[in-house]
Amino acid sequence: MKVKNICCIGAGYVGGPTMSVIAQKNKHITVNVVDMNIDKISAWNSKDLDRLPIYEPGLSKVVNEARGRNLFFSTEIDKHIDEADMIFISVNTPTKTHGEGMGYAADLKYVEACAKQIAKISKSDKIVVEKSTVPVRTSEKIKEILNRYNKNVKFEILSNPEFLAEGTAMRDLEIPDRVIIGGDNSSAIDSLVKIYSSWVPEKNILTTNLWSSELSKLTANAFLAQRISSINSLSELCEETGADIEEVSKAIGMDSRIGSSFLKTSVAFGGSCFQKDILNLVYIARTLGLKKVADYWEQIIIINEHQRNRFSKKIIQTIDSNNLNPKVQILGWAFKKDTNDSRESAAIYVADNLIKSKISINIYDPKVKQSQIFFDLNYINNDEIKNKELVSVKNNMLKCKFNTNVIAILTEWDEFKHYDWGQIYKKMNKPAYIFDGRNILDRKKLESIGFNYIGIGR
Ligand code: NAD
Ligand code: UGA
Repeated sequence: MKVKNICCIGAGYVGGPTMSVIAQKNKHITVNVVDMNIDKISAWNSKDLDRLPIYEPGLSKVVNEARGRNLFFSTEIDKHIDEADMIFISVNTPTKTHGEGMGYAADLKYVEACAKQIAKISKSDKIVVEKSTVPVRTSEKIKEILNRYNKNVKFEILSNPEFLAEGTAMRDLEIPDRVIIGGDNSSAIDSLVKIYSSWVPEKNILTTNLWSSELSKLTANAFLAQRISSINSLSELCEETGADIEEVSKAIGMDSRIGSSFLKTSVAFGGSCFQKDILNLVYIARTLGLKKVADYWEQIIIINEHQRNRFSKKIIQTIDSNNLNPKVQILGWAFKKDTNDSRESAAIYVADNLIKSKISINIYDPKVKQSQIFFDLNYINNDEIKNKELVSVKNNMLKCKFNTNVIAILTEWDEFKHYDWGQIYKKMNKPAYIFDGRNILDRKKLESIGFNYIGIGR
């Protein structure tokens, strides 16, 4: 099938950037990105490109180029499903919060709702592409729903998981290490290969069966997160022995068999996917009776929680044992630099631990809005009153008074490295402590200013 019209359901962190690049590279294809969230769509349509719903370096330039030409954002879901030859499902697949598999399994209600809607609306044959991250064999379920609700149209299902990372999404989309397309119909596979091959070398486009494609996505995330938990577990060992995790990380990363990526120790990994995808993998293994496999992968999550808890504990113990003013200045709320996304950010958990110990906090992040920070905290501890009482958010670094003894860095934003730490030290109560949850500052320099510097694993 020659694809002329694409509809993508879900204008989120994946749907928006991915479709922007597909439209940019395929001028002959009309791409409609639809979402039921009216505010999000109007933000995507905003004339002021600083108001796009996602902050991602390089995104606004691509949107500016393609939007209105062959890229459109709309809430008219039925209309665009009807017109499309190919439909991407790019909706959220969070961890289930109730029912069977609660706390582990992926909640497929949004994916299933899309399949139902596609079936009900479609009057012509369609290729349906699973872009969301889903448990292995979900495409079977999608196929079953499509065929149950529409017996007149032929649907082909493809799995095309997304591997972009936030903060570098545009580069990841522009030059992906690989694109995976899983399917059992060669003509449908070719249609999607053609779209990607407008800019991705064919040797980087891997075609597989449906199940391998679905499982490869979960496996890739599990392997990446496993490296972080491995290095983070050793950071604790370094603190006990005098070894420096940054040196250990460099030393092992130079072994070409190990490689240097994803060996940066931190206060813990965050983001909307690592935890949910690993829990999903654990659930799949457990339901298949593979207890040892499930326990092995679950350990990644256990170490991650341990890492952020022990970071919080160090701050609390320092305040208690030195009888300091119970107040902490937090720098960084996003789960990593260069994104406004705070989903599952370590900062949320550390802040909550401090609040539980009645420590008041002042928060600054260059991109995360105050409303989002309060939303995150209210969601995690359900204690709006206490959060209001103990938390304040500054959207301008110059407005931070630093009249505290303790600063905690929770996101590795570049601007934090370039602050005038000498000036900040002057404004702080003494003794002054920096808990560097990302090891981004120069320990010797800070100590020479007068700070007590506490990094991770060193
Ligand atoms: P998101 O929450 O940012 O966006 C999902 C969007 O889908 C929301 O705007 C929501 O309103 C919309 N939606 C849900 N159901 C809908 C429906 N029935 N009709 C219309 N719109 C609907 O999520 P995301 O971060 O873009 O993730 C989407 C999927 O991609 C997930 O499965 C995720 O695991 C996967 N993924 C995410 C990333 C990432 O970096 N965020 C990377 C790779 C893969
Ligand atoms: C991750 C994967 O890298 C993507 O390939 C995948 O598509 C995506 O999940 C997904 O499925 O959602 P993302 O979560 O956006 O991407 O960002 P990462 O760069 O992987 O960082 C995740 C977390 O790990 C962040 O909190 C980051 O600070 C932390 N991290 C990363 C470390 O602590 N150390 C590292 O060495 C690398």
